[in-house]
Amino acid sequence: MKIAIIYSSKTGNTKALAKAIKETLKNQNLIYFNMPSEKIPMADIYIIGSWTFKGSPTDDIIQILKALKNKKIAYFGTAGYGGNPTYYQKLFERVKSYIDSSNEILGYFYCQGKMPNQIKTKYEQMLKENPSETKYKKMIDTFDNALSHPNEKDLNNVKKWINQIIDKN
Ligand SMILES: Cc1cc2nc3c(=O)[nH]c(=O)nc-3n(C[C@H](O)[C@H](O)[C@H](O)COP(=O)(O)O)c2cc1C
Repeated sequence: MKIAIIYSSKTGNTKALAKAIKETLKNQNLIYFNMPSEKIPMADIYIIGSWTFKGSPTDDIIQILKALKNKKIAYFGTAGYGGNPTYYQKLFERVKSYIDSSNEILGYFYCQGKMPNQIKTKYEQMLKENPSETKYKKMIDTFDNALSHPNEKDLNNVKKWINQIIDKN
């Protein structure tokens, strides 16, 4: 089985997961690890990852998801507002909408990923302007919680996740 890992990462969180996946699949037939600028490499299993931008994967990843037909696809992502399975499920529903039904979806994995400091500054400004709005305080807490992610546990979890999938396929 030829395996390709294709990922999009702006600040390194999703890349850290991609690298952990690559490391754990070192004895497999891994034929690609990157983001293709032209043709999508030919493989049997595609392990596709993206950071979350406005509730979706990035455009380049969306184009790849849309282009794949009759393949096996496993998806991994990082999200700043993460930390709960319901949110991740909702994000994955969006991802799934870009995947053609001829493909077999092998599963998905998400964990939280730290966000740039400007986002916290923006939340703090909003809280300052609306001190009674508890949602801004919650957003700041979520931001702070994301700062340590992806951590060792996340990396171990993504390795376990992909190993189980590859063992079955
Ligand atoms: C412009 C922008 C938009 C974002 N939109 C979302 C979002 O809609 N939902 C979410 O959970 N996280 C969002 N995030 C957080 C990132 O998805 C998160 O920090 C991710 O781990 C970044 O991954 P990377 O380091 O691989 O680029 C956003 C971050 C930025 C900078």
